[in-house]
Amino acid sequence: MVENNLSPGSIASNLETHFIGQRVIYYPNLASTMDVAKREAQQGAAEGTVVVAAEQTAGRGRLKRAWLSPQGSISLSVILHPSVLYLPSLIMLASLAVVHSIEKVAGLKSQVKWPNDVLINGKKVCGVLIENEVRGDRVDYAIIGLGINVNLRLSDFPEISSIATSLSDELGRNVSRLDVIRCLLVEIERLYLTLQAGGSIYEEWRDSLMTLGRKVHVQSEETIYQGIAESVARDGSLLLRHSDGNLTKIVAGDVTLRD
Ligand code: BTN
Repeated sequence: MVENNLSPGSIASNLETHFIGQRVIYYPNLASTMDVAKREAQQGAAEGTVVVAAEQTAGRGRLKRAWLSPQGSISLSVILHPSVLYLPSLIMLASLAVVHSIEKVAGLKSQVKWPNDVLINGKKVCGVLIENEVRGDRVDYAIIGLGINVNLRLSDFPEISSIATSLSDELGRNVSRLDVIRCLLVEIERLYLTLQAGGSIYEEWRDSLMTLGRKVHVQSEETIYQGIAESVARDGSLLLRHSDGNLTKIVAGDVTLRD
C-alpha cells in the first residue's frame, strides 16, 4: 500500500527548497485550489506558498473546461511573484517540472503537447493552468495550477478514458502522490531559479514537445487553423505553416493532432 498522507508537515518536512512549498495549505476536499491560491495571493501570501487538495469538486481547466480531480489525483497550486519577463516561461516551467518529476518518481517518459498538456503514450496525464494578475508592467501574482492523474483507474471514468491516462494505469501499480508532489516542488524551484539567474528553459521545453513537425488543427478562440506545427517562439507561441506556405503565430489554443 502506497502512503497517501498529504499533510502540510509531510510535504514540507526536509523539503530541499528555499521557498517553494515552505508553506503548504492542505484541504482533504476543496472546490478548486486555484480559488484558495488566488485569495491567499491577494492577501499577500509569500512566494512559494502551495495549496494542495486531496480531491477537488469543481476543478477547472484551460478554456473554461472542467477538470476531474478525484481521490488519487494531485491537485495543487503554487503562488509566485515573478517579474513580468518570466510570465511567458511559466507554462514551459510547469510542464517541464512535471515531465522531470514523472520520470524521477515513476520512471515513465512523458512529452508535452503544446502548450502544456503532459502526455504518456499519447494520452493526457497532467494539465497545467496558469492564472495571473498583472498591473502595468508589474505582476501582482501568478498561480501555477497542476492536475496530475496519479492513482486513478481510467476505466472508472469512461468520459475521459479514451484521451487520458494515469501513472498507475501506465505502471500497473500505485505511485506515492507525496513523492510526486515533493519532487515537483523541488523541480519548480530549480527551474524558476534558472530563469531568475538569466538561464533559458525554452530549448528544453521545445525539445520535449511532441507537437512539432506534426499535422495539426488548432482551435484558437473562434478560429480553427490547420497546418504543420513548425516551431515555437521564445514567448511560447506556436508557429503554424499552412499548405499555401503562410505562417501563423498562435499565442493560445487547443491542438488536435491530425496525422
Ligand atoms: C487543463 O489541462 O485544462 C488544465 C487543468 C488544470 C487542473 C489543475 S488541478 C489544480 C488546479 N486547480 C484547479 O481547479 N485547476 C488546476
